[in-house]
Amino acid sequence: MASLILGSVFLGLIIHIQSYNFGYNNSYTSHCLNDERSYKFGYNNSFTCHCLNNETCDTVTGRCGSGCSRGWRGPSCQRENIASDSMFVSQSGVFNNRQDLYGPKLVVDGYNDTNRNIHYCSDTDTDNSTWQWWFIDLQEEYPIGYLKIFHKYDRLYVFKGFSVHIDDKLCFQHTDTSDPPAVFPIECYGTLTGRYLNISRYSETKNYIALCEVEIYVCSQG
Ligand SMILES: *[C@@H]1O[C@H](CO)[C@@H](O)[C@H](O)[C@H]1NC(C)=O
Ligand SMILES: *[C@@H]1O[C@H](CO)[C@@H](O)[C@H](O)[C@H]1NC(C)=O
Ligand SMILES: *[C@@H]1O[C@H](CO)[C@@H](O)[C@H](O)[C@H]1NC(C)=O
Ligand SMILES: *[C@@H]1O[C@H](CO)[C@@H](O)[C@H](O)[C@H]1NC(C)=O
Ligand SMILES: *[C@@H]1O[C@H](CO)[C@@H](O)[C@H](O)[C@H]1NC(C)=O
Ligand SMILES: *[C@@H]1O[C@H](CO)[C@@H](O)[C@H](O)[C@H]1NC(C)=O
Repeated sequence: MASLILGSVFLGLIIHIQSYNFGYNNSYTSHCLNDERSYKFGYNNSFTCHCLNNETCDTVTGRCGSGCSRGWRGPSCQRENIASDSMFVSQSGVFNNRQDLYGPKLVVDGYNDTNRNIHYCSDTDTDNSTWQWWFIDLQEEYPIGYLKIFHKYDRLYVFKGFSVHIDDKLCFQHTDTSDPPAVFPIECYGTLTGRYLNISRYSETKNYIALCEVEIYVCSQG
């Protein structure tokens, strides 16, 4: 019993350290970027379910029977992919000028396959620019701490050394000598508030980036 109480106090302490406020008048406290265990779901009925096919969720935990609806993630489906279906995307170039086959919207179309034979991916391969990039305007500011990048699996070497900026702040820089993985979950160096996200790579030689999907998750306030 004593250890249970101690454990709870300790857990509470961790959660407290990792939390931040968001929403109207900063009145919501979110814990889900770093710790999803602490979502007090049904408290004052302040959170909305985001279940597949509009199912109801567990009123205490928020859990859905058959998973989250499109664009939502996490055990209680409270992480929203704010990149989903965005119209405000662009990239440094479009291979063969074919938007339908290589354009920036393919990166937010909900298909996360890293094999373009299964579903098309973007491709900036068009000129000899030293900077290659993919850019999204989220239309408003969000606190962003986590994103997931799906890069074309058979061209990972071209993605080495890429970086992610939110507004002008560095969220992540790939520095490994090995290629990044095709499915790359990224935690920013800290939670950054911003509206513009830019994934870029510098190369002296002719190069390109080929993104299949980018998911940007924020905590929902319901
Ligand atoms: C918003 O926060 C301010 C400062 O704490 C407070 O004075 C004000 O009453 C709050 N507004 C509402 C609607 O809660
Ligand atoms: C919870 O809801 C009740 C009734 O609407 C309200 O009086 C109370 O202030 C709420 N508590 C918080 C912490 O928002
Ligand atoms: C989901 O169900 C609720 C409650 O029945 C209803 O009000 C709402 O319109 C439904 N939403 C969709 C997208 O079907
Ligand atoms: C890719 O999308 C499918 C279908 O939405 C999903 O089941 C799967 O978990 C996703 N893969 C990753 C690595 O997120
Ligand atoms: C790109 O570079 C290659 C070889 O360095 C050159 O042959 C080609 O003309 C250049 N293309 C453009 C569009 O500048
Ligand atoms: C994205 O970042 C790259 C590298 O800093 C830069 O050259 C490019 O202009 C940026 N794109 C936008 C739309 O800001």
